Order: sequence, then C-alpha cells, then structure tokens
Amino acid sequence: MRRAPQPQVSAAVLLRRATRALQRARLHYGHGTDRARDDAAALVWHALRLPAEASAARLRRGATAAQQERLRTLLARRISKRVPVVYLTHRCWFAGLELYVDERVLIPRSPLAELIERAFAPWIDAARVRRIADVGTGSGCIAIACARWLPRARVDALDISSAALEVANRNIRRHRLGRRVRAVKSDHFSALSPGAYDIIVSNPPYVGRAELAALPPEYRHEPALALAAGRDGLDSVRVILRDAARYLRPGGILVVEVGNSETLVRRNFPRLPFTWLEFARGGGGVFLLTREQLIEGKRN
Ligand SMILES: C[S@@+](CC[C@H](N)C(=O)[O-])C[C@H]1O[C@@H](n2cnc3c(N)ncnc32)[C@H](O)[C@@H]1O
Repeated sequence: MRRAPQPQVSAAVLLRRATRALQRARLHYGHGTDRARDDAAALVWHALRLPAEASAARLRRGATAAQQERLRTLLARRISKRVPVVYLTHRCWFAGLELYVDERVLIPRSPLAELIERAFAPWIDAARVRRIADVGTGSGCIAIACARWLPRARVDALDISSAALEVANRNIRRHRLGRRVRAVKSDHFSALSPGAYDIIVSNPPYVGRAELAALPPEYRHEPALALAAGRDGLDSVRVILRDAARYLRPGGILVVEVGNSETLVRRNFPRLPFTWLEFARGGGGVFLLTREQLIEGKRN
C-alpha cells in the first residue's frame, strides 16, 4: 500500500517540534552542545542539508518527506540510544576549525582551545615554538589547532589507539596540514626522542572507576580508552608528570587538562608548583608546569 503524502512542514516548525521532543526526553548535554535547542538545530540542519547561514525565507520553506524521515531517525537515535548529537552529524568545531568526528574518538570540548587560540600566551613566546607534542590526540583537535595558531611549529599527534589515529589523519588531511602535523602511534611518549619539544600538551583520560560507572549514558558512546584512567583516574597523568621533562627543551612547558581531578592531582603531587589556568569561556582543571619546575619538583 502507498504511504499517504506527508504534509509540507517548514524547517522552522520542525526545529520547534524537535526542541520540544528533546526537552521532554531530559537528555544529558555537554558533548559539544549545551541545550535541547542546540541539539535540535544541529539535527534539523543536518537532516535538511541546510547551509550554516540559512536565511529566514529558507527556514519557512517546506521539508521533503525524505528530509522529515531523516530527522525522525536522527531524533530517535538521540533520544532512545542517547547518542550525542556530534556522533550523529559527524561535525564539530574546535578553536575555530571544523572537524570530522565519530565514535572512535572523544568529542572535542577541551577548554584548551582558548589557550591555543592565544598561541599559549603569555606562557611561551610563540615565535620561538618549533615543536609541539599532543599526548592522546583523539580526533587530532588539539594538534591541528596548535598547527593552525602557531604556524611555525611542527606537531606530533600521539595516540595509543590506531582507530583514533585514523580519524586524526582524516582531519589532518582535511586541513592540509600533513607537512606539519604527524599522527604517531605511541603509548604516551614511547615513540618520541628525548629533549625535543617546546610544548607538550595533553588532554589525557582522567576519569576514575567509580566516576566512570556513574556517568550519563551519552558517555558510553565515547571510547573507554579516552576516559578511563585506572582506579583513581590518575594513571595517565602520573606517567605524563613522571616523563614529560625528558622530552621538553629547556624553557619548555607542559600543559595538561585533568578536569575535575584537579583536587586529587594537587593532593597527590604536593611538591609540584602547578599553575592552574583560568578560561574566560569557562571550564578549568588545566595545569601548567615548566620543565625546570618538573625537575625541581622531583628533587624535593
Ligand atoms: C580524553 S581523550 C582526548 C582526545 C583529544 N585530545 C581531545 O581533547 O578531544 C584521551 C585520548 O588519549 C588516548 N590515550 C589513552 N591512553 C593513552 C596512552 N597510554 N598513550 C597515548 N594515548 C592514550 C585515547 O585513545 C584518547 O584518544
């Protein structure tokens, strides 16, 4: 039997309906979007293949039956499977750059974007930065943003996950940075030679076992390897703090996001003189140490 033709519904009406459906579902946000309206917009734009700057006239135009069906499917996956919207659209932005993302990598959302857009000012002279290592690169967001905002630097984008490196390489190609950004399979620093880097930057896994078990369902779509870091969440941070100084040049800096593990990090490393960075756009739990502070902290 033939399906009855769908009534014409405008993009604006679909947006209102989708927002209401998402609000009723009481979902978790924070994977690149903050509220139901933003998720709804991302899904409507994706389903209807709308340009980013769609005019009011375009939004009043009717959506085809196929577009409405596509939107229904996307909403169903967001609501019943709790898939974060970025994994449905495969698009996100980090430090002003558009990136491809899928479930092989964490959804980029680090406050480090703000620091990178400032080329790490005032902590290092950007004109002198030649080499950067990004430990745990995932989608490549931090490495690629570093190359974009520090145009004289070469960046090693390290990850232990081959699947993540495939995504990073796709993004490196997309931004035509293959000559300056290298995706390298590495267990923390294992693939690097000592003494080479002006900046080591990292958003490593830092979620402890109990916290991981309590996370909303949206997080289960992200790779466990990107979140889980042992019983207390500090397994990766410990390795970075132990080894980073060997890979930094004199005057080099280490910048690491540890999110809400900040208190635990302070308590576990009382002799390290961390500088905890502040961000105008929100977020925190990011520390900075110089190579000399790392070495001195170990001596004490
Ligand atoms: C929190 S995610 C960060 C991804 C990306 N840098 C971002 O900010 O969106 C941590 C990343 O570290 C990687 N990772 C986990 N253990 C690692 C290890 N031992 N050595 C290198 N990378 C590791 C994971 O595969 C994951 O891609």
